[in-house]
Amino acid sequence: MDSISLDFSHGNEAGSLMEELLKGKAAAGLAKQQEAVSQAYNTLLQGNGKGNDFLGWIRLPEEIQAETLEDISAKAEEFRKKSELFICIGIGGSYLGTRAIIEALKPQLSDRMPGAPAVIYAGHQLNQDYMNELLALLDKHEYTVCVISKSGTTTEPAIAFRLIREHLTAKYGKAEAGKRIAAITDRQKGALRTLADTEGFPSYVVPDNIGGRFSVLSPVGLFPLAVAGIDIKSLIKGAADMQKRLTVPALDWGKNIAAQYALFRQYQYVQQHKKVELLVNFDSRFHFLSEWWKQLYGESEGKEGKGLFPSNAGFTTDLHSLGQYIQEGERLFFETVLSLENQHTRLQIPSDRENLDGMNFVAGKEMAYVNRKAEEGTILAHARQGNVPVLRISVPRLNAFHIGQLIYFFEFACGLSGYSMDVNPFDQPGVEAYKQNMFRLLGK
Ligand code: PA5
Repeated sequence: MDSISLDFSHGNEAGSLMEELLKGKAAAGLAKQQEAVSQAYNTLLQGNGKGNDFLGWIRLPEEIQAETLEDISAKAEEFRKKSELFICIGIGGSYLGTRAIIEALKPQLSDRMPGAPAVIYAGHQLNQDYMNELLALLDKHEYTVCVISKSGTTTEPAIAFRLIREHLTAKYGKAEAGKRIAAITDRQKGALRTLADTEGFPSYVVPDNIGGRFSVLSPVGLFPLAVAGIDIKSLIKGAADMQKRLTVPALDWGKNIAAQYALFRQYQYVQQHKKVELLVNFDSRFHFLSEWWKQLYGESEGKEGKGLFPSNAGFTTDLHSLGQYIQEGERLFFETVLSLENQHTRLQIPSDRENLDGMNFVAGKEMAYVNRKAEEGTILAHARQGNVPVLRISVPRLNAFHIGQLIYFFEFACGLSGYSMDVNPFDQPGVEAYKQNMFRLLGK
């Protein structure tokens, strides 16, 4: 199937109910949560729920103009030509989506896509030694910078940008430095907008009605992704394809995989009293996608004393660490497996005459086949022996189109989940608490 798809066959009790529902039968056990997700669906599409001034992401993939993509691609090409390194400054929703997509699509042992500059992140932490290493590296390489902050006032990227802009100006002079910076921020508000307008940096707008963690398909992600060599047109095509499938006027439970995912999660949370959703993968290229997902779900649902705690693990690596807990520890989670159906390359395990390592039983098999059996074996062990309900999300291939589908799928399901829990999925009041204390301690 050339689209992402869900498999509930190892979802234990909820899985059986979901399978009944998908066969078109009434699954009484799901009725309450099904009603909540149905209502959430209508609320989301009618735009009359909490936080409804932040719903611009819903129609974004289909609404984005071809000229906008052309314009971003052309400016990105100018930046690429000038850069060995491309410094991407931002945090949270102004960082994770871009990194998730680049890490999923670039060659794994390289720091860059072919023909593109290496991407280095900054402003996603307050690590002084990291910054000093970066500044030393910038002495030796040609570079350009993209600073992303919707509010334009976030501490971490503001400090990183101050340091890097000083370096850039000292290295290239003010005029050229101004051509090597792109700012992505609010249309009018914030210190970064003032700076960009005053200094004349090329800039892109974060739409008012799109919050940080839902913004990767806007210029927030599109510009840095284009500089990094990602095919942004295919990415948007994949997202638009998913938008079309998921946002039809009447919810079709058999077809709407975001509603299915939201329902499965709600059932685990409300009926099975699960506290944690563990997003796992069998391919490390999904690692930063899981980091992006953690922010999306954690900031959207975790409020008013509610919400599934989003956590992640990378297998088979973590089967040799967290695997023990998952199999036999407290039953406080369910597992969502991000499953990759195809690799880009082929690789057979060779036969060995001596067979001293005893591995001839897999000789002639592809390494991906062994990984697939590890995945199947793990799902069986967790779901059957360990009583951990497992949902599998299959991704046909790692390319921009399918990543675009996956991003939109998770965003739409997140909106549904938040409304099903009766919280505002589009605000994040809790993130202010640490900032207030930090500012007081810093004497702001
Ligand atoms: O999802 C969100 O809104 C947040 O995580 C923000 O993206 C993050 O705090 C960064 O904010 P800003 O883009 O304003 O610098």
